[in-house]
Amino acid sequence: MDENNIWTLVGKTQELIKELESNGGLKEITFEDKKIVLSYFENKWGALNNKCNHMGGPLSKGKLKNGCVVCPWHYWQFNHATGESLTVEASKHFTSTAGSVPHFPLKTEGDSLFINLSQQSKRVPAVYNMKGNLGREPKREPGPIRVLGLSTTAMDQDNPRYSTSEELLKSALDQASSKLQVETKFLSLSSLKIRNCEGFYSKSEKACTWPCSITKIDPTDEMTVVYENLVHWADVVVVSSPIRWGGASSLYYKMAERLNSVQNQITMKNKVLIQNKVVSLIITGGQDNIQSVAGQMLTFFGELGFSTPAFPFVAHSLGWSSEDMEKNMDYVKKSEHLHEESFHLVERSVLLASKLIG
Ligand code: FES
Repeated sequence: MDENNIWTLVGKTQELIKELESNGGLKEITFEDKKIVLSYFENKWGALNNKCNHMGGPLSKGKLKNGCVVCPWHYWQFNHATGESLTVEASKHFTSTAGSVPHFPLKTEGDSLFINLSQQSKRVPAVYNMKGNLGREPKREPGPIRVLGLSTTAMDQDNPRYSTSEELLKSALDQASSKLQVETKFLSLSSLKIRNCEGFYSKSEKACTWPCSITKIDPTDEMTVVYENLVHWADVVVVSSPIRWGGASSLYYKMAERLNSVQNQITMKNKVLIQNKVVSLIITGGQDNIQSVAGQMLTFFGELGFSTPAFPFVAHSLGWSSEDMEKNMDYVKKSEHLHEESFHLVERSVLLASKLIG
């Protein structure tokens, strides 16, 4: 018997069509060790290998859209019958072609559908453009200690307002660049267009990648600036945040969620991208809850691989019962103590970074 001509029964066509219609158009079927995604669109059957060309996402868990199977992980699309990729937003920025997923021949006889498992077409791998080098191995370039000031205060860049935490951060950086032999850089999250983390990790840990999947999908996403500076440039990162409803700034959380791609490398590959780096904090607010905000932030940065100096944060709050913002701004502007302490925080951090780098 010709082995290439062996057809295996999949099921009754009408029953399969009914099932596909009620399941969003896709059904996972398994024969021996082969996982296949079955589909039916405009009177045409399709059977593709269930593994996506990108990172192996389970195509049967995606959806059928205009005759294409859309991968649930990062939304690459493949023709449901031929497996050929479509050039879509999700893949076009970092591949020349997303290739083809293998397909299987199908035939109907009477009221039944059959599949030929021995004639799976060849997988055509994606061809990646090697643009950008965020994914390079982190390696400290020679030179003085580099201090990054990262302000997480939310504000409109066209109508900037006074921010107590940002004022202390900028003042500490200015003093550091004139009194210490360091290079400094200030970065405000509110000046960057950062896309939300879409929680790819919640679909599968393998779906959360480094560089971040969002960065690879969207060239306009400016989280790249944060990644580049945090992972590759800085030895010391001083993060400033206001206290908002007892927590850190919403922009801090937006950034923290996107930094999951950095932390996830440790969980998945035991690859620590952040090494011999120091973090310290400047936290201010009209209300209290400083220790809780500092505790959360220090734990988070610790989980990324950052070290902290002794006395790792400077904070200021007028307290719950004296919420008077005009007075508060004035207080911070005039407080020599806060400005001095913010500088000493940077000084301690630089000292620790020097020791770590050796
Ligand atoms: S799009 Fe399928 S795994 Fe990324």
